[in-house]
Amino acid sequence: MKVLVVGAGGREHALCWAIAASPLVDKVYCAPGNAGIAEDAECVAVRADDTAALIALCRRESIDLVVVGPEAPLVAGLVDALEAAGIAAFGPSAAAAALEGSKGFMKDLCAREGIPTAAYARFTDAAAAKSYIAAQGAPIVVKADGLAAGKGVVVAMTIAEAERAVDAALGDGRFGAAGAEIVVEEFLAGEEASFFALCDGTHALPLATAQDHKRVGDGDTGPNTGGMGAYSPAPGVTPEVEAAVMDRIIRPTLRAMARDGRPFKGVLYAGLMLTGSGPKLLEYNVRFGDPECQALMLRLKSDLVPALLAARDGLLDRVDLRWYDEASLCVVMAAKGYPDNPVRGGEIRGLDAAAADPDVKIFHAGTRREPAPTEAGGGRLIADGGRVLGIGATGADLAVARARAYAAIDRIDWPDGFCRRDIGKRGID
Ligand code: AMP
Ligand code: GLY
Repeated sequence: MKVLVVGAGGREHALCWAIAASPLVDKVYCAPGNAGIAEDAECVAVRADDTAALIALCRRESIDLVVVGPEAPLVAGLVDALEAAGIAAFGPSAAAAALEGSKGFMKDLCAREGIPTAAYARFTDAAAAKSYIAAQGAPIVVKADGLAAGKGVVVAMTIAEAERAVDAALGDGRFGAAGAEIVVEEFLAGEEASFFALCDGTHALPLATAQDHKRVGDGDTGPNTGGMGAYSPAPGVTPEVEAAVMDRIIRPTLRAMARDGRPFKGVLYAGLMLTGSGPKLLEYNVRFGDPECQALMLRLKSDLVPALLAARDGLLDRVDLRWYDEASLCVVMAAKGYPDNPVRGGEIRGLDAAAADPDVKIFHAGTRREPAPTEAGGGRLIADGGRVLGIGATGADLAVARARAYAAIDRIDWPDGFCRRDIGKRGID
C-alpha cells in the first residue's frame, strides 16, 4: 500500500512513523510534513487545505489510503472530497466532524441523548449572554462555537471576566465567524483526562488512555496551549471509568450520529472531567490529540494500518489492538514565547545524541532544513513553529520513561527552546 498522511505536526510524525512500520505499507507520503517527518516519509509540499492538489497527488502517486491528522481539513470536508474522488480516506465526514466544528451542535446532541456534560446555553446576542451569566454566577465558562485553534475557551472566575469573553467573541469578533455564536456553560471541577476511541460509524474501539498537560508552565500555570506533554497510560482512567465513558458517552454519541445520517468514522477524542458524579464530557475532538498521539503510538504493539482500514470500512468489530505494558511519555519542546509569540528561526543541534537511546524517539512538530537538503547532505535544522519537537520515551514505568525523556532533552542544544519539567509528575505521584 501507499499511504498519505495529511498534516505537519508531531501527531502526523507519530502517525507516519507507525504507518511506515506496517508490513502492509510500501511507502508513506506526508503533505506537507516537516524536517523530521522527512526521515519516515516522503514529504510533498502540498498544504492540508489544498483539496484539489491533495486529490491530484493521490492520483499521481496511486495512494491507497489517506489519513487526515488535523481538525480543520476534516471540518472543511476533506474526507468527503477524497471519497467522492474515489480515494479511500480515514477520518470523519464534514457532517460528522461537526462534533468538534460546532460546540453548540455537540452540546445539543448531548442534551438530546442524555450524555453527561456541563449545563449550557447558546447565544448570538451579547446582552442575552450577559443576563444568563448574571443569573448563573461565576465561575462560568465561555466558548466560541467554532474552531479557534485552542484559544476559544475562557474559564472565567468572575462575572466581569465572563462578560469580557462575551464581548471579545460577539462584539469584537476576535474569533471571526467561529465566535459569531458562543456557548456559555457550567464550570466543572475535577481531574481532566483525554479518552480516545476508534470508530467505524457503528462500532467503537477504545484506545489506550493518555493524559495531556494543557497549560504552558510547570504546575499547570500560565495560558492554555495545544498541549505541552502527554503520558500513557493515564491512571485516572480506570477500567470502571472507561466502561462508564463507553456506555454513557461514546456509544450513545455513535448511535445518535448514525441515526441522524452523520455516521462517525475516525478517532473520537473525548475531553473529560472526572467529577464526583462520574465522567462528564467537556468537548469532542474528531482526531487524535497532539501530543497524546505520540504517547499512544509509542505503546502500540499492533499494526495501526488494518485498524485504520477497518474504521473506514465499518469492520472495527473484527479488530483487536494490543498495547505494550510499558509506559510512554512525550515532552513537548516549544519555542520561547509560545503560545503567543514563538521565536522562529533558531538552530537546533544535538538531536542525534539525544536520540541515541533506543527507548527514545524524537518527533518533530515544527522544523525545517536550511538550506533545503540535497543529495549531498542535510542542511541545518531550524525551529519553525510554536511547538517544535516532542521528545518521546518508553520505560518499565512512567518514572523510567520520564527520566529517559529528560535525559534526551538535556542533550539538545537549542537556546530558543523550552519545555515543562514536570510532564508525568502527577501520574507518578
Ligand atoms: P476545550 O477546548 O473545550 O477542551 O476547553 C479547554 C480547557 O478549558 C479544557 O481542557 C478545560 O481545562 C477547560 N474547560 C472547558 N470546559 C470547562 C468546564 N465546563 N468546566 C471547567 N473547565 C472547563
Ligand atoms: N492535546 C490537545 C489536543 O490535541 O487538542
